[in-house]
Amino acid sequence: MKEVKSFIINSALDMHLHLRDDDMLKLVGPKTSQSFAGALIMPNLAPPITTKEALLSYKKRIKEACKDDDFEAHVTIFFQVDYSYEFLKDLKDEIIAVKLYPFGVTTNSETGVSSMDVEILRPTLESMEKLGIPLCVHGETKGFVMDREKEFLPIYESLAIHFPDLKIVMEHISSKESIELLEKYDNLYATITVHHLMLTLDDVAGGMLNPHAFCKPIVKRPDDRESLLELALSAHPKVMFGSDSAPHQKNAKECHHGAAGVFTSAIALQVLTELFEKYGNLDNLNSFVSLNAQRIYGLKPIKKPIKLIKKDFEVPKSYRYKDEIVVPLFAGQTLSWSIE
Ligand code: DOR
Ligand code: ZN
Repeated sequence: MKEVKSFIINSALDMHLHLRDDDMLKLVGPKTSQSFAGALIMPNLAPPITTKEALLSYKKRIKEACKDDDFEAHVTIFFQVDYSYEFLKDLKDEIIAVKLYPFGVTTNSETGVSSMDVEILRPTLESMEKLGIPLCVHGETKGFVMDREKEFLPIYESLAIHFPDLKIVMEHISSKESIELLEKYDNLYATITVHHLMLTLDDVAGGMLNPHAFCKPIVKRPDDRESLLELALSAHPKVMFGSDSAPHQKNAKECHHGAAGVFTSAIALQVLTELFEKYGNLDNLNSFVSLNAQRIYGLKPIKKPIKLIKKDFEVPKSYRYKDEIVVPLFAGQTLSWSIE
C-alpha cells in the first residue's frame, strides 16, 4: 500500500465546542478558527446564555476573537422550561440549536433542568419541534459516574418517542449502549469527541492521575472506546465530530476539586487524521468532520481546505494568553500529522 503523505480536510466543523469568554475566548477562539470552518458553540457561560441580547453580544465577541479567520460560530441557547413559542420564533434564525443540561451534571449547569419529566419539558420542546430547532442534550444522570450515560438512555428514548419531529443530538456519546439507541430512532443523532475515541479510564486514573483527560462524561472501558471508534471510522451517517473541547485554567485542573473538560481544539484534526489513517479509513474522515454535520444540520460552510501533512507535530506543553494558561490533551507528546 502506498504511504499517504498528505490529506485535505474540507471545511471542518466542530459540532460541540466550548469557547468561554474574555481572555480565555481570545486564547482558544483562534485555536479553533485556524483549522475549522465553523462550530456549534455551547452556551454554558456563567451565567448561561438565555436571552437574545446575551446571545448576540456573545456572537460578536466570538467574531472579534477569531477575526483573522474565516469561521462561522453557530451559537446556541441554554434550555429553559419556560421559553415561549414567540421567544424561540424570534431567535430561530440566530441559533442552530438549544442545549439542554440536567441540573448539576457538569460545568455551569446549576441552572439546568431539575426534572427530565417529559410533561415539564413539553412546552419548550413542542415549540422547538414546530419551529424545526434541534435539541442538543448532555445525557447524564447523577448516578454512579461510569453509569450516568447508560442511566440516561430511557430519557433519550422517551424524548425521541414523544417528539418524533424534533432532531435530538446525543452529545459526546461515551458508551456502547448509546449506539444501540442511536440506531433505533430516526430522530436521534450523536456527536463523538477526540478524547472518547482515544482514551479509556486507564488514561485518566489507571496510573498517575491525569487531570487534563478528566471530563464529563468520563471516558470509559476499552470496549466502549472500540464501539465508538467503529462508528466514527465508518462515518456512520448519524454521527458527527464534536470535540467538546472545554478549556479550563491550568490551576483549575491541577488542583483539589479539579474541573472537568479536555482541551483539544488545537490538536483535533491532527489526531483524527492519525487515527483514520492508522485504521485505513481516511476516505471517511471528511464525512465524519464535515459532510455528516452539513446534512444533519443543513449547513453550507465556507470553503476552507486544510492540508494535513505527515510530519511530526510536538504538542505544546501549554498555550497562553495574558494570565490564561491551558494545557491541551497530549501535551508534550508527538503526533505524526501536522497542519501545513
Ligand atoms: O467535561 C466537560 N466539560 N463536559 C461538559 O459537558 C462541559 C464541559 C465544560 O464546559 O467544562
Ligand atoms: Zn460540552
